[in-house]
Amino acid sequence: MVAALAAFPQALPFLKGSVRAAGTGLPQPDFSDLPSLRVLAEKAGIFFGAAVQLRFLQEEMDFARAVQKECSMIVPEGSLKWSVLQPQENRWNFQPADSLLSFAEGNALKMRGHTLLWHNAFPAWAEEGLREGRGEALLEAHISKVVGHYKGRLTSWDVVNEAINPKDDHPLGLRDTPWLRALGPDYVAKAFRLAAQADPNARLVYNEFILEGEEDKRAAILALVRRLQDANVPIHGVGVQSHLWAPKRQRVDKIRAFCREITRMGLDYYVTELDVGEKDYGDDFEKRDLLVAERAREYLDAVLTECKPKEILTWGLSTRHSWMADPRYFKSNAEGKPIRGLPLDGAMKRTRLWHVLYQALSGLAPAEAKA
Ligand code: XIL
Repeated sequence: MVAALAAFPQALPFLKGSVRAAGTGLPQPDFSDLPSLRVLAEKAGIFFGAAVQLRFLQEEMDFARAVQKECSMIVPEGSLKWSVLQPQENRWNFQPADSLLSFAEGNALKMRGHTLLWHNAFPAWAEEGLREGRGEALLEAHISKVVGHYKGRLTSWDVVNEAINPKDDHPLGLRDTPWLRALGPDYVAKAFRLAAQADPNARLVYNEFILEGEEDKRAAILALVRRLQDANVPIHGVGVQSHLWAPKRQRVDKIRAFCREITRMGLDYYVTELDVGEKDYGDDFEKRDLLVAERAREYLDAVLTECKPKEILTWGLSTRHSWMADPRYFKSNAEGKPIRGLPLDGAMKRTRLWHVLYQALSGLAPAEAKA
């Protein structure tokens, strides 16, 4: 079913032509008079937001104001990961995530949770615990404590993050991680059940990065989710990280088919970490912005013609701080050059990617009026 008709009313015809004509040094467009993404998301009855880090909200007023203005939701970029929450066994550190939640609640924003189980940001002591055969107890202690701590206050949880990697040759396509080695394939179901016990009303999401060309990965994700459903495991959605890559045109037909299947299975599609990575970091921002915008447009257009995600989040709001500027994650940016693939630039000015989101949200069907 087409849940969100006419996602892009003005199909952005200028984009293709302008990409060819780029390099002209044209002035950057000014979107400052348009309503915020927050306002448009509210009209559509969904949440728009971004991953944030506490210290930037505390130290940079222009950034904090931009978050208040554009977002109706935030997600902690790192504060809910194991390495922050439990750097040592039973030494809990909820302070950064609690402060983010206070910021959110004080500004009438929602917060979502990321992530209860991931093979990264996972402390050495816990990995050792898994090797010692204490995996089940550690999983239970962590999930019940963390989900219980925020019970009723977060909209959704990324319960398990990035558990699929067909390249690891597991028969079910599961990624070779300490969790898999310690608990076997059932660890995913266990994590969801524990989360549901700790907060029966939370929306529970399986979150994954899905490179659009990788058919076997999408198939393995769908098979995992189907197994969970067949076993009556409480799962409500699939989070698609949506880290797009500017040089690569996407298979929109594959994306659409995936969205349709998620919807057919009765699950919600979450856009959890949208951003656009680049290979070349030249000084012609206009040229780069057009390409970034085109990638985001083709992706969002494909998704939104098939479903209406409840939450759309970018991984960072401003290019002033983004993991894409970090050469540890983006080797193509070894010189740490300015990046462009987020809704606001380093001066909090709206980019063309912002405008793509603006058009995407404007095209969503309005929220159903409450009876
Ligand atoms: C990244 C953060 O942005 C970095 O600051 C951090 O050091 C490493 O993790 N997929 C995810 C996110 O699910 O948690 C990752 O976040 C980016 C990729």
